[in-house]
Amino acid sequence: MKMEKNGTAEIRVDGKTLTYPVYEGTEGERAIDISKLRKETGLITYDSGFMNTGSCASDITFIDGEKGILRYRGYDVADLAEKCEFIEVAYLLVHGSLPTAVQKDRYSQLLNQHSMIHEDMKDFFSNYPEHSHPMAILSAMAVSLSSFYPELGQDVKEDLDMTVTRLISKLRTIAAFSYKKSIGEPTIYPRHDLKYCENFLNMMFSSPVRKEPINPVMADALNKLLIIHADHEQNCSTSVVRGVGSSGINLYASIAAGICALWGPRHGGANQHVIEMLEEIYREGGDVSKVIERAKNPRSPFRLMGFGHRVYKSYDPRAKIAKELCKKVIAATNTKDPLLDIAQELEERALNDSYFQERNLYPNVDFYTGLTYREMGIPTNMFTVMFAIGRLPGWIAQWLEMNNSETPIARPRQVYTGPNLRKVTPIAKRK
Ligand code: ACO
Repeated sequence: MKMEKNGTAEIRVDGKTLTYPVYEGTEGERAIDISKLRKETGLITYDSGFMNTGSCASDITFIDGEKGILRYRGYDVADLAEKCEFIEVAYLLVHGSLPTAVQKDRYSQLLNQHSMIHEDMKDFFSNYPEHSHPMAILSAMAVSLSSFYPELGQDVKEDLDMTVTRLISKLRTIAAFSYKKSIGEPTIYPRHDLKYCENFLNMMFSSPVRKEPINPVMADALNKLLIIHADHEQNCSTSVVRGVGSSGINLYASIAAGICALWGPRHGGANQHVIEMLEEIYREGGDVSKVIERAKNPRSPFRLMGFGHRVYKSYDPRAKIAKELCKKVIAATNTKDPLLDIAQELEERALNDSYFQERNLYPNVDFYTGLTYREMGIPTNMFTVMFAIGRLPGWIAQWLEMNNSETPIARPRQVYTGPNLRKVTPIAKRK
C-alpha cells in the first residue's frame, strides 16, 4: 500500500516559509516529507540515532510503542503465537499472506529439501577456535552461502524464492552445527521427517549414540519464541539489512550484516546479558537492590539488561508472551530455576521504582526469552543465534520490500565538526 498524502506542514527557515507534504500511513502515523529541504534551504535535518526519522514506508510490521501493540501484516503477534507455527509466520512475512494447509505443507517440504549445507562448508566449523562466539560463525557462514549457493538472477522471482528458502532452512542447520562444534560433538544432519522446530531441536540435542526424544512442549515453545522475534520494523539490524541491501549486494551478504548488528548488547545480545546479570545476582546472594541502584546511578554505564526499549514505552507485548512461556517450560521440565524468582523480583522492584516509571522502562523481549531458552537446554551463548533464526524471515521480508521498491542507496548526511582546512606540515618539520 502507498502512503496517502494528508495535509501539509510549513517550516520557517531564515524568514522564508516552505511547505512540505504530510503523508499518512494506514494506522494514522503521519510524516513530513522533507526530502527537498536541503535543495530548497541548504539545511539538513539532524536526528542522531534516527529517533525521529522514518526511513521507509512499509507494509510489513506495525508497532504502537505507547499502547504495546505489535502486528505482522495486520495480525496481532499474540494471535499468531497462539494459532500458528513459526513457518506459517515466516511464510506470512515473506509472501504477505498466511499459507493455506496445502501451501504450508509444500513450504515445509521445500524447507526440508534445502536443509543440508554443502559438505565443504562443514570444514569451516573445524577451523574456528574453540571459544568462538556462535554469532561470529553464523554471520561468516551466512555470507559464505553466497559462494556455495550463488543466487541465480536476483531479478527473477523464482530464483529469489530459492535463495530465501535456502537461507531460512540452512541458517537453522548452521546454528545447530555451530553449537555441536562448541561442545565438541559430531554434527547431526537434518531429517526430512521432522518439522522445522523439531528438526532444530533434534540437531541440537541428539547425537550419533543417543536419540533424544523431542518434547512437544519444547517444540511448541520454540515455535512461539521464534514467532515473537520474527520482525520488528526498522530496528537496528533490520535497518542494517535494508541499508546494506540498498547498495545492490545480495541477500546473503545483507543478512550477514544484520546478524552482526543483532549481536550487540544493546540489541539482540541483551538476552545473553540478562542471564549473566541474573547469575551474578544469584552468586552474590540473590539481593536485587544492588543491581537496581547500579542501573539508576547516572555515573555508571550499567543498564538493567532486558529493560527499556527505543519504541515501547509500555510493556513489550513479546515480553508478556515470553514470561508465560517461561513458566510453562519450567513446569514441563519439573524444575525450579532460582533465576526465574530473581527475574520476577527484579521486574516487580523496577516497575515500582520511580526511576523506571518516569522513564517508561519496562521488561523487553529479552528479559524472559533467555530464561526460557535456558530451561530448554539451549546454552547462553546461543541465545542471540536463536534470536537471529527467528528474525530471519523479517529481515528477508524487509529486504525484499526494499529491493522491490527501488529504494535509493542509504546515505545519511552529517554535521561536520572537525578542523577547518589546514596545510600538511612536511614530516621532518612535524613536532
Ligand atoms: N536501565 C537503566 N536505565 C535505563 C535503561 C536500562 N535498561 N534503559 C534506558 N535507561 C535510561 C537512560 O539512562 C536514560 O536516562 P536519562 O534520561 O536519565 O539519561 C533514559 O532511560 C532513556 O534512555 P535512552 O538511552 O534514551 O533510551 P534508548 O531508546 O536510546 O535506548 C535501549 C533503548 C538501548 C534498549 C536501552 O533501554 C537499553 O540499553 N536497555 C538495556 C539493553 C537491552 O535490554 N537491550 C535490548 C533491547 S530490545 C532489542 O533490541 C531486541
